[in-house]
Amino acid sequence: MKSLGTRGGSRENGRVLNPDADLIRALAADLADADFRSAPLRAGWGVEADDAIGRTLRTPALRGLGDRTDPQAVLARLLIFGVAQPVSHVDDALPRTGSAGLVTLGLARVDAHAVTPTAIVRPQSFHDDRGPGEWWVASDLDELATGGGSLPDDHVLGVGGASLTLAGLQLPTPARRVLDLGTGCGVQALRARRYADEVVATDISERALAFTRMNALLDGTSGIDTRLGSLFEPVAGETFDRIVSNPAFVITPRVQGVPAYEYRDGGLVGDALVEQVVAGVGAHLVPGGVAQFLGNWETKDGSAGLDRVRSWVEASPVPLDAWVVEREELNPIEYAEMWIRDGGTAPGTPDHDRLLTAWLDDFAARGVTAIGFGYVLLRRAEGEPTLARYERVPQPIPSEGALGSHLADALAAHDAQAALSDDELEARVLRAAPDVTEARHHTPGSEHPTVIELRQGGGFGRSVQADPALAGLVGASDGELTVGQITGAIAQLLEVDEQALRAALLPAVRALLVDGFLRFA
Ligand SMILES: C[S@@+](CC[C@H](N)C(=O)[O-])C[C@H]1O[C@@H](n2cnc3c(N)ncnc32)[C@H](O)[C@@H]1O
Repeated sequence: MKSLGTRGGSRENGRVLNPDADLIRALAADLADADFRSAPLRAGWGVEADDAIGRTLRTPALRGLGDRTDPQAVLARLLIFGVAQPVSHVDDALPRTGSAGLVTLGLARVDAHAVTPTAIVRPQSFHDDRGPGEWWVASDLDELATGGGSLPDDHVLGVGGASLTLAGLQLPTPARRVLDLGTGCGVQALRARRYADEVVATDISERALAFTRMNALLDGTSGIDTRLGSLFEPVAGETFDRIVSNPAFVITPRVQGVPAYEYRDGGLVGDALVEQVVAGVGAHLVPGGVAQFLGNWETKDGSAGLDRVRSWVEASPVPLDAWVVEREELNPIEYAEMWIRDGGTAPGTPDHDRLLTAWLDDFAARGVTAIGFGYVLLRRAEGEPTLARYERVPQPIPSEGALGSHLADALAAHDAQAALSDDELEARVLRAAPDVTEARHHTPGSEHPTVIELRQGGGFGRSVQADPALAGLVGASDGELTVGQITGAIAQLLEVDEQALRAALLPAVRALLVDGFLRFA
């Protein structure tokens, strides 16, 4: 595996973080006393201003704070929106830490009478299987806090959309050891630690690891071991029950003048970083251990992105069960636009045109016609792999931030049905899941439906077309009769051959069990 080296950008440009444990505990106590929490802050500036924050607009929320000088408002301006505040106000808002403490931690500088933030600290609320929670997450000043402009190459990302997606995908089941590869500000590590005895968090950025240590201390969470290094280098020879990663997968042209942001770009060509994660992950999982990560994959020289991912999985030296979900596919122009904008370069500027040309030249030269984005779940198989699912799921997901428990249930259901012969499956009693509804579509005037759809309210929000026999089986699965009894009754009712019906229904029943439409009673 190619060594990508590590980067110590924090020292090079003088933005040194100092996660001093006592000072951070003092800061956490001050933030708690100021009620520096999402809900009261949102209530203060209102729902519309809160929505605008999601569109990188801070002015409405700052207007909502008005001329308030209470600790909550002062800290919001300083630590959420990156606006300098008078030293006396900050000292009042943080009685234990003071503006001097923020400077020592590397979160601010003091010039004359003003405290200017050099990082942000934002409250993040979440909800997982253990219930609601909230933590403060420190990271580098982002576009909301700087008001725009391009980001430094060693920028450490805060909690963004992709972070929340992966956090929600994490399996909410107990684990002994979890690896968070490319931890950034450490949000996946924090989330993983809620279910794991210990977490190893790695990154090529020393500054990212300092933020991770700071955020663990702010949350009062122990058991997160931070290690510097590229990909699996810091965990050579070690195995984990779970590996999570929101890796730096963004595809970047390797030409002069195109910034290589370490927060999103692993330094390789095309989608090679995701390929390397797939290649290396199996050796670091215990048998039965699960890796979950996000990624991009290119459709290249006529080979579809999902097929290329499949070829990487099949080339793994360790046998892997695989479930890969492509959520969206962009063409090269859309892809380049998205990531040039993400780096802070606005359309209509000469820089934007130059960067767009570089991206399009790179894709054209390498035969790339589309770029897929999605989730990868790989499990170290204990024998022969039984799961090889590569699918497009473009529909809105009812509760994307809480998919983890659905994935855990789906894996358990997959294993349970895979272990049953058809005869054994026929002897089982099933129940339709409570979130399943049925829609029947008739051509006008016809007595019989032309289309029957089974719809799922939770999970991936799937919709499955069913024939009358399958719809009848799901409808009759109420925890009383076995699959075989229901199939027999339906065969009689429809006057069809029972064996033929059984052969047609059982594969569909297996699929509905895995997807959560049916459950074992
Ligand atoms: C997109 S950020 C993800 C941060 C965080 N885990 C999250 O979910 O928000 C990717 C992180 O991977 C790190 N990184 C980049 N290349 C890496 C590599 N070769 N090995 C390990 N980490 C890397 C970056 O420094 C960055 O912190």
